[in-house]
Amino acid sequence: MATLPLSPLLFFVTISSHLASSTAASAHYLEAACNVTRHRALCMRSLESFSHSAAWKQKNPCWWARGAVAVTLTEANDVGRYLAKMKHGGRTRGGRAGRAMADCVECFGDAVAELRSSLGELRRLERGTFEYQMSNVETWVSAALTNQDTCLDGFGGYKGKEVGEVKAKVLNATYLTSNALALVNNLASSGAWRN
Ligand SMILES: *[C@@H]1O[C@H](CO)[C@@H](O)[C@H](O)[C@H]1NC(C)=O
Ligand SMILES: *[C@@H]1O[C@H](CO)[C@@H](O)[C@H](O)[C@H]1NC(C)=O
Repeated sequence: MATLPLSPLLFFVTISSHLASSTAASAHYLEAACNVTRHRALCMRSLESFSHSAAWKQKNPCWWARGAVAVTLTEANDVGRYLAKMKHGGRTRGGRAGRAMADCVECFGDAVAELRSSLGELRRLERGTFEYQMSNVETWVSAALTNQDTCLDGFGGYKGKEVGEVKAKVLNATYLTSNALALVNNLASSGAWRN
């Protein structure tokens, strides 16, 4: 019995068009998820590495909420360490900027703890307690955002290169946190509790 020969070229075309369409689908999930956030370009950039996983994962709002909180936690932790280093060795030591820096270290310490608790909760969501757990997560991520805003406010109209750099990093962390909060809110209202 004759079987149709499968041309290697056709085979290649089929595989590559399959790859292209699954890449487009991944981008679609990422874009759709980031559409609920305020800082979309940053959202897409920061969550890009989560867009290469299986579609069933990406269809779940929990995937994006957890990813965003994890990325935000890492960044907040890095910024906190950077602030601590600046506080001890920077030119802003002493004076008003120095006090602002010390307050920031504290605020970021709290923010990191709140984000860590949030991530822990998002990793053990259960049907029976979903709403209660999500209300905790929303409270903690909001508190983390408030803490970072408080840090930023501490610098007020302070100018200078070093303070400018600090503010840019802190602002970036607030944007990531704002995005994470939007994705957490989205998960809370979706009711999709599964991991
Ligand atoms: C995201 O929002 C933009 C602008 O509102 C829209 O054009 C686009 O189709 C949306 N993307 C997805 C994947 O929902
Ligand atoms: C903002 O955060 C992202 C995600 O962690 C990071 O890759 C980027 O370097 C940060 N940008 C600034 C200006 O700190």
